[in-house]
Amino acid sequence: MNAFHDRRIVLGISGGIAAYKAVEVCRRLVDAGAYVSPILTEDAHRFIGPVTFSALASEPVHTSLWDDASPIPHTRLGQNADVIVVAPATARIISAYATGSSYDLLTATLIATRAPVVICPAMHTEMWEHPAVQHNIEVLRSRGVIIVDPQEGRLAGGDIGAGRLADPDTIVGAVESVLSGRGHDLAGLSVVVTAGGTREPIDAVRVIANRSSGKQGYAIAEEAHKRGASVTLISTVDRPTLSGISVIEVETAAQMLHAVEQHAPQSDVVVMTAAVADFRPVHVADGKIKKHNGIPEIRLEPTPDILAALGASKSTGQVLVGFAAETDDVVDNARGKLKKKNLDLIVANDVSAPGVGFGHSTNAVTIISVDGSETFVPLADKHTIATAVLDSVLAVRTALRPQ
Ligand code: C5P
Repeated sequence: MNAFHDRRIVLGISGGIAAYKAVEVCRRLVDAGAYVSPILTEDAHRFIGPVTFSALASEPVHTSLWDDASPIPHTRLGQNADVIVVAPATARIISAYATGSSYDLLTATLIATRAPVVICPAMHTEMWEHPAVQHNIEVLRSRGVIIVDPQEGRLAGGDIGAGRLADPDTIVGAVESVLSGRGHDLAGLSVVVTAGGTREPIDAVRVIANRSSGKQGYAIAEEAHKRGASVTLISTVDRPTLSGISVIEVETAAQMLHAVEQHAPQSDVVVMTAAVADFRPVHVADGKIKKHNGIPEIRLEPTPDILAALGASKSTGQVLVGFAAETDDVVDNARGKLKKKNLDLIVANDVSAPGVGFGHSTNAVTIISVDGSETFVPLADKHTIATAVLDSVLAVRTALRPQ
C-alpha cells in the first residue's frame, strides 16, 4: 500500500528564495495520492504566488488566521494533519517553532498539532551556521521533529555553501518514511551500500560479469536515505537514484575493495549487497584477443573477499551485513558464512526460486542475525525487502549498544 494514499499533509512554505522549489514538492505529494493543504507565510507570497499552489494542491492555499471560513483554521489544519512539512523553513520559522511563538497561521498550526513535523531548512550559510539557529535546530530535534538537513551547493546571490534546500526527492522520501511509521530512525547514521555485479576484464573489450542488476542494493541505499541516514553507494551499475545519495562508480572487485576501504572505517553500517566475482583472469590482455589466434586459455585467480576483509577489521559497534545467493541448503550455508566472515546479519536468498534474486524486481529472503534469530520475508518488491533488512540492522544496533 502506498504510504501517501489518502493521507493529509500540511505543506508550510515560508519566505525564502527556495519557496519556488516547494511547488515541486507539492506536486509530488499530490501525485503520490496525498491530500495536501498548503500554508504560505506572508513573506512566502513575495517569492511565489498562491495561485500556483492552489492549482496543484488539494485545497486552496491558506495564508492567514483571519480570512478562512473557519474561525480557527490552525486547529483544524493541525488536528487533521497526518504530517506537517515545512519547506523551505526560514531561520524565523525555526526560531518561532523552537520557542513556541505563534504569530501567523503557519506558526500557530505548528504549535497546535500533535502530528509529526518535518522541517526542511533553507538559508544562507552564515545564517544556517549561526549558533542560535543551530541551537534551535537541536531543540527541535530533541523534541522529535525531523530535520531534513540542507545541502551544500549554490545559494541565492551565487555563493556556494551549506544551506540549500534539500532536493524534492529527499523531502518527499522523509515524509514517506514518517507516514510509513518509521520516521527518521536512521538519522545520524552513516551507511555504505555496495550494489551490482563486478566486471573483471579479460582483454580490452571483454569481461567476466554476472546477472546482478543492482536493484536490491539501490533499494537498500534509497530506503536508508529516506530514513535519514547519510548514504554512500558503491556501485557497478548506472541506475538513476535519489540525488542525496553519494554514488561511487567502480567496475572490478579490486576497485570495489578500494572504495570500501576508503569509506567503511567511518561508517556505522556496511551492507555488501553487490555480487562480487569470485574469480578474475590472472592476466588481462592489452588489446583485444584476436579470434584468428585460436581459442585462448584464460587462467583465473581468486578476487579479494571484501566482506571477509571487512569482518576482520570491523570496528566496535559497526554493523556488517552480507548477502548469500544460494541454490541449495540456503539457510545452513548462509549461517556458515555469517560465522566465517564475522558478520552481524546475512540475507539469504534462494536464487533458483521463481521471482527471486538477480534481475527481478522482487525477492524473498531469510535474514539471519548473529544472535541466531531468523526473519523470513516472503516474495515482495525489493524496497520492502530493503525495509526489512534495515529494521534488522536497527535491532542489531540496539542489541550492540552498551547497557
Ligand atoms: O561467500 P560468498 O561469495 O557467497 O558471499 C557472498 C557475500 O560476500 C556477498 O555479500 C558479497 O557481496 C560478498 N563477497 C565479497 N567479496 C567477494 C565475494 C563475495 O565481499 N570476493
